[in-house]
Amino acid sequence: APLHAAVEQFVAALVHADEDDAVLHAFDHLHAGRAAQPGDVAAVDAGQDRDPDRVRRPAPDAELVGRDLDERQLRDVREVFQGTPLRINDPACVAKTFPEYFERFADVARAAPVIAIDGPSASGKGTVAARVAATLGYAYLDSGALYRLTALAARRAAVAWTDEAAVAAIAAALDVAFTGEDILLNGAVVGDAIRTEEISSGASQVAALPAVREALLFRQRVFNQAPGLVGDGRDMGSVIFPRATLKVFLTASAEARAERRYKQLISKGFSANLPHLLADLRQRDERDSQRSVAPLRQEADARLLDTTSLTIDEAVNQVLEWAAQALQKALPVDGAGSVFFNLNPLRAPVRGMKVSP
Ligand code: DC
Repeated sequence: APLHAAVEQFVAALVHADEDDAVLHAFDHLHAGRAAQPGDVAAVDAGQDRDPDRVRRPAPDAELVGRDLDERQLRDVREVFQGTPLRINDPACVAKTFPEYFERFADVARAAPVIAIDGPSASGKGTVAARVAATLGYAYLDSGALYRLTALAARRAAVAWTDEAAVAAIAAALDVAFTGEDILLNGAVVGDAIRTEEISSGASQVAALPAVREALLFRQRVFNQAPGLVGDGRDMGSVIFPRATLKVFLTASAEARAERRYKQLISKGFSANLPHLLADLRQRDERDSQRSVAPLRQEADARLLDTTSLTIDEAVNQVLEWAAQALQKALPVDGAGSVFFNLNPLRAPVRGMKVSP
């Protein structure tokens, strides 16, 4: 019970802590396996007017580490931590003042599983990813939408898609919320405005800018919450979630993709021209796979799913089968694997980003 209380206070401290020292302090309390002093946590909570004598690295004799907790205690920790977002304002500072911080933390934490689905435009990965997420009860991240929204917001602000610094600033400040079916930009439903051919091209252009990708990195990682996440894009498995439980590279021939895109556009009431779509897809494939940062490519540890002659159901079932295998393998021997914890340090507070699992 005292450990439980300590963990709860630790979580509260993490959520409110603005100072890395305060986080370290609370973390040390956890690993010491003893209850934090109520005063300590209040001080952590209070932030600015904390008493510097009370919020400090514990004395060396208090520095017990995770291995001093027994299995049952570790399970308690995981249970209390389940799904708790952790925010570290300055990971570099943490790594400097407490070099093994992240390793030690990983001892008591288990990241929620991620299924990373990458692939070229119009491969059907969005449909497959959303269906897999719904089946598993996981959150779904449409990472391409973030690049599309960035392109759209830049266009609306009359900022050129080639102006890296200005577009990155727009990406960093993007006020976006994903709510079930809808995506809101500045509080207004975006709808198909991000799906036009023009914005598709703009998204591909802004996605090639390193500063834009950097600005969107941590926004994507917050989606990794319990019980799990399915993310689709180009760099889910390579950059955003390199430790994903399952990585899938989902593709189809350019002709099949152009035809799917054509049907999709027509069904939405847009006009479309198949040869133009094919040429455009090839151009985007080229740009997405030739760019220097996070190019589209199959990771060595990703499974290849060619959907050229598969139905959506067949593709979904294949991913679910692989997911079941991968999740099975990821279960730790102590059986505590059903308890997950969101272990994604956020470098900066995420403004205006509602995470909707
Ligand atoms: O998946 P999509 O077609 O909605 O993506 C739109 C553009 O964004 C596409 O040109 C590639 C880019 N993108 C990216 O670079 N990285 C991602 N993770 C997702 C999309």
